Amino acid sequence: MPTLLITGANRGLGFNLLKLYDQDGWTIHACCRNPDSAIDLKAVADASGGRVTLHALDVEDPSTIANLKNTLGDTPIDMLINMAGYLGEKALTEPEGLQPFGVTDFDIMEKAYRINCIGPLRVCEALVENVAASQKQIIINVSSIVGSIGADDFGNFYMYRPSKAALNAVTHAMALNLKDRGITAIPFHPGFTKTDMGGPTADIEIEESVTGIKAVLDKVTIADTGRYLTWEGGELPW
Ligand SMILES: NC(=O)c1ccc[n+]([C@@H]2O[C@H](COP(=O)([O-])OP(=O)(O)OC[C@H]3O[C@@H](n4cnc5c(N)ncnc54)[C@H](OP(=O)(O)O)[C@@H]3O)[C@@H](O)[C@H]2O)c1
Repeated sequence: MPTLLITGANRGLGFNLLKLYDQDGWTIHACCRNPDSAIDLKAVADASGGRVTLHALDVEDPSTIANLKNTLGDTPIDMLINMAGYLGEKALTEPEGLQPFGVTDFDIMEKAYRINCIGPLRVCEALVENVAASQKQIIINVSSIVGSIGADDFGNFYMYRPSKAALNAVTHAMALNLKDRGITAIPFHPGFTKTDMGGPTADIEIEESVTGIKAVLDKVTIADTGRYLTWEGGELPW
């Protein structure tokens, strides 16, 4: 069975997507900031007979990324999903969660950039040889439609939007630079979903999002590298 490594594995889209791969019998490296308090994730790991392993990873902390690489050694990773993400302190559906022009908190904006762009790139650079050593060789950087300039007819999200646009730029470049090695790199929009981040009035349920994400990822090949894909199988403009 293939091997998945996923960040942000303790809740929201990360945890629920992980459960689908667990059901399929994949070997899973589940990364989150606080494994000790990840009760639901620990239950999945405990029931997996050793197939699901938890790792402490804070994508803002390079030392935890180095520790993860040391622990993994040369272990092949078929699919690396950078799911961990940060919007700010309010859900997308709350008025302050819209992050309108004029009230930008620049500390939050910097934190979003560290978590949503620098962190995923650090993880990709640390683990690229693990991905290269696998059969599928797929990297999914979970972005957002909010990172698309071409699809933006709303504005707002001044703290979050640039970090996802930057992640798109990084992933586009990785697709160009890693294609010759057979590695697929994809920026991915998971849908406006009812998680802690999306809030209760978001468009879709978590189950709908992760089922859609997995259906798309099941079909991804190197021919898709650099495409800005969505949970419905569509493609977004940059
Ligand atoms: N929900 C939506 O509508 C939506 C739409 C577009 C894109 N997205 C993207 O989809 C991804 C998953 O979002 P979600 O809705 O599942 O969000 P969520 O419910 O808020 O979960 C966020 C996850 O990221 C983790 N995380 C935050 N900061 C971290 C750090 N420094 N290091 C490691 N992990 C960290 C959180 O861990 P802790 O529990 O430790 O905080 C949690 O596991 C994100 O990248 C998000 O930007 C979501």
